[in-house]
Amino acid sequence: MLLEVRDLHVEFRTRDGVAKAVNGVTYGVDEGETLAVLGESGSGKSVTAQAVMGILDTPPGRVTGGEVVFQGRDLLTLKEEERRRIRGAEMAMIFQDALSALNPVLTVGDQLAEMFTVHRGMSRKDARAKAVELMDRVRIPAARERVRQYPHQFSGGMRQRIMIAMAIALEPALIIADEPTTALDVTVQAQVMELLAELQREYRM
Ligand SMILES: Nc1ncnc2c1ncn2[C@@H]1O[C@H](COP(=O)(O)OP(=O)(O)OP(=O)(O)O)[C@@H](O)[C@H]1O
Ligand SMILES: [Mg+2]
Repeated sequence: MLLEVRDLHVEFRTRDGVAKAVNGVTYGVDEGETLAVLGESGSGKSVTAQAVMGILDTPPGRVTGGEVVFQGRDLLTLKEEERRRIRGAEMAMIFQDALSALNPVLTVGDQLAEMFTVHRGMSRKDARAKAVELMDRVRIPAARERVRQYPHQFSGGMRQRIMIAMAIALEPALIIADEPTTALDVTVQAQVMELLAELQREYRM
């Protein structure tokens, strides 16, 4: 198993009391597999994803029980520094709102290139070439020109593609998508889901 979540419990301690957001979630995801999590609003889907990713709002949130075993290691026992290294490189997350996930004052090219300069120690020139390559891979037309543009200059669907490009940049073993298409209209939703499926097939080869 690539990821095994076992009996995960998450609580939020606020002034109004303790909210038990996740009560004993268990699931496994194998390499190449897609797992869809369904549940009503407030049932803890996002909080579970945040706990796995290590981006829980702590405090008030706290994992109070269970294990998150990723590539054979229980992430909950690792130091924050180690978790940070795994995040981005080994597992990545795609959010509902690309506009708040992307930095508004940096060009998309700079943000994509940063993945390679920071995590891979690449030169700026090589990293820039990788950024264009990634934009091509997520089917952004005229990538070579658009690499110099800022997030607000893209449509919602294209911004979502850029966030997907960021997520796949370092070829992580796991991508967690939390409602990656909710903010998009139905046609664009289908295109983004199709892109994710295509990328999954490509990276398995
Ligand atoms: N920062 C926080 N402080 C206090 N409670 C929180 C916090 N974040 C989440 N919760 C609580 O955790 C519970 C689970 O929320 P979560 O966002 O995971 O639901 P969800 O299944 O993703 O819902 P939706 O379908 O609406 O996205 C909710 O009751 C919510 O109020
Ligand atoms: Mg949610």
